[in-house]
Amino acid sequence: MKITKICCIGAGYVGGPTMAVIAQKCPQIEVTVVDLNAERIAAWNDADVDNIPIYEPGLADIVAEARGRNLFFSTDVEKAIDEAQIIFISVNTPTKTYGKGKGMAADLKFIELCARQIASVAKDNKIVVEKSTLPVRTAEAIKSILDNTGNGVQFQILSNPEFLAEGTAVQDLLQPDRILIGGDASAEGQHAIAALVGVYSNWVPADKILTTNVWSSELSKLTANAFLAQRISSINAMSELCEKTGADVNEVAKAIGMDSRIGPKFLKASVGFGGSCFQKDILNLVYIAKSYGLHEVADYWEQVIIMNDHQKRRFSNTIVRTLYNTVADKKITFLGWAFKKDTNDTRESAAIYVADDLINEQAQIAVYDPKVSRKKVLADLDYLESRTAAANANSIVSFENPYEACEKAHAIAVLTEWDEFVTYDWKKIYDSMQKPAFVFDGRNILDRGEMEAIGFVYQGIGA
Ligand code: NAD
Ligand code: UGA
Repeated sequence: MKITKICCIGAGYVGGPTMAVIAQKCPQIEVTVVDLNAERIAAWNDADVDNIPIYEPGLADIVAEARGRNLFFSTDVEKAIDEAQIIFISVNTPTKTYGKGKGMAADLKFIELCARQIASVAKDNKIVVEKSTLPVRTAEAIKSILDNTGNGVQFQILSNPEFLAEGTAVQDLLQPDRILIGGDASAEGQHAIAALVGVYSNWVPADKILTTNVWSSELSKLTANAFLAQRISSINAMSELCEKTGADVNEVAKAIGMDSRIGPKFLKASVGFGGSCFQKDILNLVYIAKSYGLHEVADYWEQVIIMNDHQKRRFSNTIVRTLYNTVADKKITFLGWAFKKDTNDTRESAAIYVADDLINEQAQIAVYDPKVSRKKVLADLDYLESRTAAANANSIVSFENPYEACEKAHAIAVLTEWDEFVTYDWKKIYDSMQKPAFVFDGRNILDRGEMEAIGFVYQGIGA
């Protein structure tokens, strides 16, 4: 099948960058990204490409190149579905906040809505691609909806999970470790797989395109995130033991990472992992395992989350304990609010939970993050529903300038590993702070020797 038109439902952190790269690399294909959120679509269409809704290094240039040529952002979902041969579903699949599986299972209501809309609109055969991260066997449910509510046309469902990480999305998309495509074993299924392989082949070498059955592909995505998050919880567990024993977690990570079987990546001890996916996907995995009666499997993976929650709480407890067991009315400055550097995404960021703990202790929090607005910081705290919005607004202020954020602070907590933090004039910051001046480095990015030479009381993670 010759692919000339692609539609992607969901213009978020995955849909936007993924389709921008497909459009850039396949100028012969018209790519339309649609979303119900008119404000988000308007931002993607903003004449000033720096105002697109997602900050990712390199993304604005790609959008500038392809937008209006063969990349379009629209709220007209039906038209885009009608015209496309391939439809990617890239909508959000958050943890359920109600009903059966509340707090654990993935909420698939947006997926089902997409399937029903595709079924009602499609007047010719379509390839439907699961780009969102989904519980294993979701394709079965999508197929049932499509086949039972459609207009008698044929649908092929492929699983094509996305492995990009935020902050490096463009690089990850341009040079993926692999592209995974799961499809049906039937001739029609293999035909659909070949069509999608054809799209990626425009820039991804053949040996990096892996095809499997649908269930392996769906489950591989949850498995990959579980393994990645598990490495972080493992090194974070060791960080606590390091603090008790005089070992240095950075040295331990380096030592074990040189074992080629372990490898050096994803061994950075931290204040705890955040982001929209690790926790959501592991909770979902735990829920799936429990639903099959696999309690040992469920308990095993749940520990990754338990450890991560402990690490966040441990960080706020350390701040309180070190500041003479009280932070009431003390200014504590957060450097960073995003869940990692080079993104404006704050979903599940450790900063939110650490701030919440410290506000419970009546601290005054000052925040500086190069990409996160005050509105977002407040919305993140309000979402926890720990106190009224007015109380949150009274307890936290955001600054546009890091030096002003640190003035008269009792302590600085580094929550995100933004490169610029390392290059600050730390002597100037020290001089403007209350004494003793404490730094709690939740990312181990600052140099202990240099900080102590200036006069700071410095505390990192696991050392
Ligand atoms: P997101 O919240 O940024 O974007 C999802 C978009 O879908 C939203 O703009 C929403 O308005 C839109 N939407 C929801 N229902 C819709 C409907 N019926 N019709 C049209 N639009 C609709 O989410 P995201 O971060 O892009 O994640 C999307 C999926 O990709 C999730 O399943 C996630 O687990 C997975 N994923 C995310 C990442 C990541 O780094 N964020 C990486 C890999 C996979
Ligand atoms: C993660 C995966 O890395 C992607 O492959 C996957 O596609 C994505 O989830 C997803 O499914 O959404 P992302 O959450 O964007 O990507 O970013 P990561 O680089 O994985 O970082 C996640 C969190 O772990 C961040 O808070 C980061 O600071 C933390 N982290 C990461 C550590 O604390 N230590 C490390 O060594 C690595």
